[in-house]
Amino acid sequence: KKLIIINGPNLNLLGKRETNIYGNLTFMEFFDTVKEKYPEVRLEHFQSNIEGELIDKLQEAGFSYDGIILNAAAYTHTSVGIGDAVKAIETPVVEVHISNTFAREEFRHQSYISPNAHGVILGFGLQSYELAIQSFLYNSSGF
Ligand code: DQA
Repeated sequence: KKLIIINGPNLNLLGKRETNIYGNLTFMEFFDTVKEKYPEVRLEHFQSNIEGELIDKLQEAGFSYDGIILNAAAYTHTSVGIGDAVKAIETPVVEVHISNTFAREEFRHQSYISPNAHGVILGFGLQSYELAIQSFLYNSSGF
């Protein structure tokens, strides 16, 4: 399986940013561990703070990869453009959030991604990404 994790704005600061919410690990530390754990997966990672670059990457991966794991971060709550891109592509997108956005401010309860996502996983810390990977690996029989 060929999967890509696409991370939006400020997720390059994981490990230093609001560590009480997002934890102490950098994304790269986490990513290296998860790659070792799932050697059968061709797992890539892309991060950008720029909305249009995220849309370009979704379009690029969206017709050739087996799955996209998308944490659009703050753009989740604002970007019609990213929502439309998720709708336009063929590859299934699993929306991921590190924190439980429903337990936080009201403006984080709205998502432009969810209506077009294959599924949503949130609130499990960085493990949310791993659960998303598993959803692409173990989904054929329904269990
Ligand atoms: C986030 C939640 C968003 O509301 C926030 O803007 C982020 C990270 C998460 O993974 O918990 O930057 O997507």
